[in-house]
Amino acid sequence: MKTFEIHGSTGDSFIHVGETLRNLEKYIPSKKTVLITDTNIKKYYEDQFPSYPLITLKTGETIKTLDTVRNIYEKLIEFEADRSTFIVGIGGGIVCDIAGFAASTFLRGMKFGFVSTTLLSQVDASVGGKNGVNFKGYKNLIGVFNQPDFVICDPALLNTLPNKEILNGMAEIVKHAAIEDASLFAYLERHFQKALALDIDVIEKLVYDSIVIKSGIVNQDELEKGARRKLNFGHTFGHAFEKTAGVPHGEAVSAGMVTAAALSVKKGRLSDEDAGRIKTLLQRIGLPITIHAERKRIFDALKKDKKREGDHIYFVFLDGIGKAVVDQIAIKELEAVIHHFC
Ligand SMILES: NC(=O)c1ccc[n+]([C@@H]2O[C@H](COP(=O)([O-])OP(=O)(O)OC[C@H]3O[C@@H](n4cnc5c(N)ncnc54)[C@H](O)[C@@H]3O)[C@@H](O)[C@H]2O)c1
Ligand SMILES: [Zn+2]
Repeated sequence: MKTFEIHGSTGDSFIHVGETLRNLEKYIPSKKTVLITDTNIKKYYEDQFPSYPLITLKTGETIKTLDTVRNIYEKLIEFEADRSTFIVGIGGGIVCDIAGFAASTFLRGMKFGFVSTTLLSQVDASVGGKNGVNFKGYKNLIGVFNQPDFVICDPALLNTLPNKEILNGMAEIVKHAAIEDASLFAYLERHFQKALALDIDVIEKLVYDSIVIKSGIVNQDELEKGARRKLNFGHTFGHAFEKTAGVPHGEAVSAGMVTAAALSVKKGRLSDEDAGRIKTLLQRIGLPITIHAERKRIFDALKKDKKREGDHIYFVFLDGIGKAVVDQIAIKELEAVIHHFC
């Protein structure tokens, strides 16, 4: 097991990579604790949960709402929760985002921790202190920045995770390597098959390195003004593909990274060879490199991007593998790119 410490402005957080769910009790600081999970995780792992009152959510992005949070508040009242009550979210990004938000707002904030049960939540949602829910169709519109006391990343839990969820996590790992760590990228090229087979040592390295990379970037920029934008590599096009083609996040981000790499080549920043390495790695992992959707709808979605400022948008380019740079680009230019690449 390896522990990574984060010292954020909202508190300290300890991320334990390679720890097991069975040891969760060791990390819980209060006798009064409430667990929050979803129906899938309950089905597989309830026998490993410590015995505390349990709130079980349904699954899917549609439950990430204030209504679900309201139900949690009601249960917390029923369980006579007070400020000494500790909340543990056991689940993927959805359970953790909701549990963290409910814990951060009930009684003006209770302490909380997570057990991350998906590869995506281990490599991405476990770091950064973002908690929140969707509102009126806008993703993560309502939320807070607040660090969990701890996050347990148990690689054994990934064995029951559907393959498409593994791929969602893999896309974010490739992103982390592409923006910040050329040696991790080369490691992925050598070991992606073992990663897909969920080899414990390989997964632990990928999760740990991803956490180091993401938290390094977040630390420079906790409230998302400059450096943190690098984490959006592949996501400008990715979000537009996700909305218009309705494909899973990882698939959309994969095609988005290929498009962003191609645009970086066009701008004379990235070599053809490095763009080719990105494409080949994603393909070998089993992620798509193009998405089929109507160009006009992709462009409409791009125009609504949150990172837009007037006629320009902040876009993440690569100057090389492991070297992301954020620069503005005219929306018009992106339209031309869609015609060229999509
Ligand atoms: N807070 C952040 O910084 C951050 C970062 C990235 C993503 N997110 C959010 O995370 C969410 C996506 O998270 P996700 O991809 O983990 O999805 P998820 O939580 O929906 O989990 C995916 C599916 O896998 C099931 N599942 C979870 N763990 C399992 C296991 N061990 N075995 C079998 N099935 C399991 C879930 O029930 C669900 O059906 C999005 O809402 C996104 O906005 C947040
Ligand atoms: Zn993402």
